Amino acid sequence: MNKVAIVTGGGSGLGQAVALRLEKEGVHIVVVDIQEEGGNATVEKVKALGVDSFFVKADVSKPEEVKNYVDQTVNRFGTIDYFFNNAGISGSGKFFLDSTIEEINQIVGINLLGALYGAHYVGEVVVNNGGGSIVNTSSSAGVIGQDSVVTYSATKHGIVGLTKSLVAEYAKDGLRVNAIAPGPTETPMVKAFYEANPEMKENATRGIPQKRLGTPEEVAELVTFLLTSKAEYINGEVIRIDGGFTNTK
Ligand SMILES: NC(=O)c1ccc[n+]([C@@H]2O[C@H](COP(=O)([O-])OP(=O)(O)OC[C@H]3O[C@@H](n4cnc5c(N)ncnc54)[C@H](O)[C@@H]3O)[C@@H](O)[C@H]2O)c1
Repeated sequence: MNKVAIVTGGGSGLGQAVALRLEKEGVHIVVVDIQEEGGNATVEKVKALGVDSFFVKADVSKPEEVKNYVDQTVNRFGTIDYFFNNAGISGSGKFFLDSTIEEINQIVGINLLGALYGAHYVGEVVVNNGGGSIVNTSSSAGVIGQDSVVTYSATKHGIVGLTKSLVAEYAKDGLRVNAIAPGPTETPMVKAFYEANPEMKENATRGIPQKRLGTPEEVAELVTFLLTSKAEYINGEVIRIDGGFTNTK
């Protein structure tokens, strides 16, 4: 029987790459995004390759919208096997004291609360159905400190805590939870951020031992491995995929 996955932030970047990679495993995919156009485009691409897929528009910072995408998935497919808890924003790149409270709230609401709500509602289904796995998206900024992204970094460190502590509570119920910590990866979010802060792209590439950014396809390969049974005994890990960046800090 086909496995069932939910991918948040599935309309672009890492989420879209993971949806397209999971499709190759014959997984039914529910694409969640706040942007309809991107979400529907991913669904069309996935369906063209032969599996079932549909789009749910949701703002992950709103708990009732998170519950809705989980309910819609269960109504259609009966269960959830894999959850890529990934939707996020980078913020403006301003130093912390120049950031507004509105921006701080927005980043925390989407990146951290959105991930907690997702883990809460999906976790309930997975535990009741006897097992499944979650991959949360952290970041290099979730394992080291970095300037210009203080609030973002706080949320991504929070993702690490969510990942490790969920395992402590629910591994016995068949829930596996891991996180990825990508370095700068060539997605629309990063391109937009570097366009607004060009000096940071040069700095970033210089600081990466492999002297290039990552690709969404490289990240999708890792996420697919972690979600599926190939990684059955890997639990609570935060896997860095950053060309050596954070290990040389
Ligand atoms: N690209 C990188 O270099 C990089 C590095 C480390 C971590 N990350 C993380 O990876 C994740 C995906 O980023 P990406 O690079 O693919 O960015 P992206 O902008 O290409 O994709 C993010 C997607 O999330 C969606 N989204 C934003 N706010 C949302 C909300 N409130 N509700 C639902 N969907 C929402 C966007 O519409 C978009 O489709 C983020 O959590 C980001 O912090 C990215």
